[in-house]
Amino acid sequence: MRAMSERIAGEKVVVTGGAGFIGSHLCAALLARGAAEVTVVDSLRYGDRANLAALPRLTLVKHCLGTDCADELARVLAGARYLFHLAAEKHNQSKDEPARVLAANVAGTATLLELAGKAGVRKVVFTSSLYAYGRVAGAPFDEAERPEPRTVYGISKLAGEHLTAWAAREHGFAYNVLRYLFVYGPKQFAGMGYKSVIVKSFERLLAGVGPVVYGDGEQRLDYVYVDDAVEATLAALERDVSGEVLNIGSGRATSVNELVDAIVRVSGKDLPPTHGPADWTAGSVRVANPDKTARVLGWRATTPLAEGLARTYAWVCGAR
Ligand SMILES: NC(=O)c1ccc[n+]([C@@H]2O[C@H](COP(=O)([O-])OP(=O)(O)OC[C@H]3O[C@@H](n4cnc5c(N)ncnc54)[C@H](O)[C@@H]3O)[C@@H](O)[C@H]2O)c1
Repeated sequence: MRAMSERIAGEKVVVTGGAGFIGSHLCAALLARGAAEVTVVDSLRYGDRANLAALPRLTLVKHCLGTDCADELARVLAGARYLFHLAAEKHNQSKDEPARVLAANVAGTATLLELAGKAGVRKVVFTSSLYAYGRVAGAPFDEAERPEPRTVYGISKLAGEHLTAWAAREHGFAYNVLRYLFVYGPKQFAGMGYKSVIVKSFERLLAGVGPVVYGDGEQRLDYVYVDDAVEATLAALERDVSGEVLNIGSGRATSVNELVDAIVRVSGKDLPPTHGPADWTAGSVRVANPDKTARVLGWRATTPLAEGLARTYAWVCGAR
C-alpha cells in the first residue's frame, strides 16, 4: 500500500477512462493514497467494469464524452477537487473513424473541461500522447520542439492539450499535460480494442507459437511500465507545478527484436519469433527525452523491462 497523499487524502477525484488500462491502475493508486471518493466516467467501449471490481469508495458512471448528455457530467463533477482526464478514442482503436475520434477527444474534452471549471475543480491532469509529436524518426522527443501530429488522433491529443490550457485560463484551475510513450503492463487489453504487441506475444507463446516480428524488428520504441506511468501521473497532480507539458517515457530505445527476445525469455518457452512483412513502422524511432519531467516532477521510470514483462506475463497467465 502506498503512503497517504496530503493533496489527495479526503478528496473527491474524478477519473475519465478509469475502467481502462492505465485509468484502472490510477484509481487503485488514488484510493490507496486516501482519496475519499473516486468517480469514474467511462463509456465502457474499451474499458471493463471488472478492472474496478475490487476497489472501495469508487463509483462508475457509464457516460460517453462527446456524445451523451452533459447534464450528467455536471452532476458527476459537483464537489470534485481534482480531475484526471484519460478517456480517449485511441489511434489503433479508431483510426478509420476520424469523426468518432474528434467527437470524443476534442468536443468531449472541451465540454468536460468547461464543466470541471464551473464545478470548481482545482487541478486537472490531461493525458496526451507521443502521437502529438507526429514524427517517427530522429532524436528523442523534446517538449520544446514544435509538435506536428500526422494522425487525427495526434491532432485530437494536441487539441486536448490546448483546450486544457484554455479552460485553465478561463476558470483559474491548475493543470499539467502528460505525453505518455508506450505504456505496458497488466490489464492492457480487455474486451474490444487494440491489443498490445506485448500481450499478444505472450498469448501466442502460451498457445505454443512464437511471436511475430514485422519487418526487420529494428523499430525502436520507449516502453514505460504502468506503475511508473501512474506514479508520474500522481506526481503531476501532487507537485506544486502547473502549465507543464511533460514526456512520460523511460528515455530508453528498445528495438522490437530486443523486446521480443525479452518476452520469450520471460515466458521460459523455446519458441523463436517468426517474421511478417514490414509495415509503416519500418525504421521508426519513437523515444522520449525524460529530462524535463525528472527536473519538474522529480520522476524517472524505474521498473526494468524484464521485471515489467514478468509482471505482465504473470497477469496474462492468471487472466486466461
Ligand atoms: N497505453 C499507452 O501506451 C498510451 C500511450 C499514449 C497515450 N495514452 C493515453 O492514455 C489514456 C489512457 O489510455 P489506455 O491505454 O488506458 O487506454 P484504454 O483504452 O485502456 O482506456 C481508455 C478508456 O477510455 C474509455 N473511453 C473511450 N472513449 C470514451 C468516451 N468518449 N467517453 C468516455 N470514456 C471513453 C474507454 O472505454 C476506456 O476504458 C488515453 O488518453 C490515451 O490516449 C496511452
